[in-house]
Amino acid sequence: MKTRITELFGIEHPIIQGGMHYVGFAELAAAVSNAGGLGIITGLTQRTPDALADEIRRCRDLTDKPFGVNLTFLPAVTPPDYPGYIRAIIEGGVKIVETAGNNPQKWLPPLKAAGIKIIHKCTSVRHSLKAESIGCDAASVDGFECGGHPGEDDIPNFILLPRAAESLRIPFVASGGMADGRSLVAALALGADGINMGTRFIATKEAPVHDRVKQALVDATELDTRLVMRPLRNTERVLNNAAVERVLAKERALGSSITFADIAEEVAGVYPRILQQGELDAGVWSCGMVAGLIHDVPTVRELVDRIMAEAEAIIRERLITFANFALNGQGRV
Ligand SMILES: Cc1cc2nc3c(=O)[nH]c(=O)nc-3n(C[C@H](O)[C@H](O)[C@H](O)COP(=O)(O)O)c2cc1C
Repeated sequence: MKTRITELFGIEHPIIQGGMHYVGFAELAAAVSNAGGLGIITGLTQRTPDALADEIRRCRDLTDKPFGVNLTFLPAVTPPDYPGYIRAIIEGGVKIVETAGNNPQKWLPPLKAAGIKIIHKCTSVRHSLKAESIGCDAASVDGFECGGHPGEDDIPNFILLPRAAESLRIPFVASGGMADGRSLVAALALGADGINMGTRFIATKEAPVHDRVKQALVDATELDTRLVMRPLRNTERVLNNAAVERVLAKERALGSSITFADIAEEVAGVYPRILQQGELDAGVWSCGMVAGLIHDVPTVRELVDRIMAEAEAIIRERLITFANFALNGQGRV
């Protein structure tokens, strides 16, 4: 299946693994790229630019396919050494960067000068248009369903994606709620050029997280996520647990006077304990509503192959009865 995204990134399948804090290590990124998708290392999970340089080398040892690095720009009292991370990416020969969070404009010139393609993750049409106007090559359009930070507009993908298709000229992938061949075909129908998955890739054999985390995703239903930090305008979709209930109780009690310090115990620095040690209730952790569609823990290749086979079957067996052009397997979708 060729789309503008497979052509832009030189990949076989239009499936991207979004950057994920303490999940997007070399093992997962390489597994996704080896399966024909685009794997992405999460830059800021590496504590220093030197550590990121090592992780990029490790990934290159594991795959000869294209892979990317995620750089998340968040407001921070002491910002990470972004120039250092960018240097590590350029010197590491990485050719694709997924940016997320704040407007990445200030950081684009060195990346573009190094011939790096930028895909910016956005939760609204206006942010996607901004990304297009500042020279990003593609957008990852993240609907309200998504794990992590869905923004504050609360527009689900059935509206957001066609709106993006109406407005954008650059290619974009559908992000948030994507799990299987049905998601891929639906995303293409809504105007996207592929899919970006976060939560689904955590429940794979190669994801370097504790087995209890994978099992929690298999056990969870679509009813089991909650939104935290809404009063701070930093909304995050997380899997419900005891820590999440505590955060929500504090939000109700403190109302608009709540500050980050009030919930730091449940939110700050908890990812290693949860994802690596498997202490699931140690704090809040991102998870999409798509957990309701996760029923197994396949290898990454099994997952990617299954998505492509399902998508093809849907097009050939179900949609063909409606539209003969769906048969045109050659050229672009
Ligand atoms: C555990 C977890 C950690 C994440 N960490 C990041 C991150 O550090 N930077 C980022 O840009 N997106 C992050 N995301 C968002 C994903 O890249 C992706 O956009 C999102 O998961 C898509 O929605 P889905 O989970 O429904 O597939 C994270 C998501 C999860 C589930």
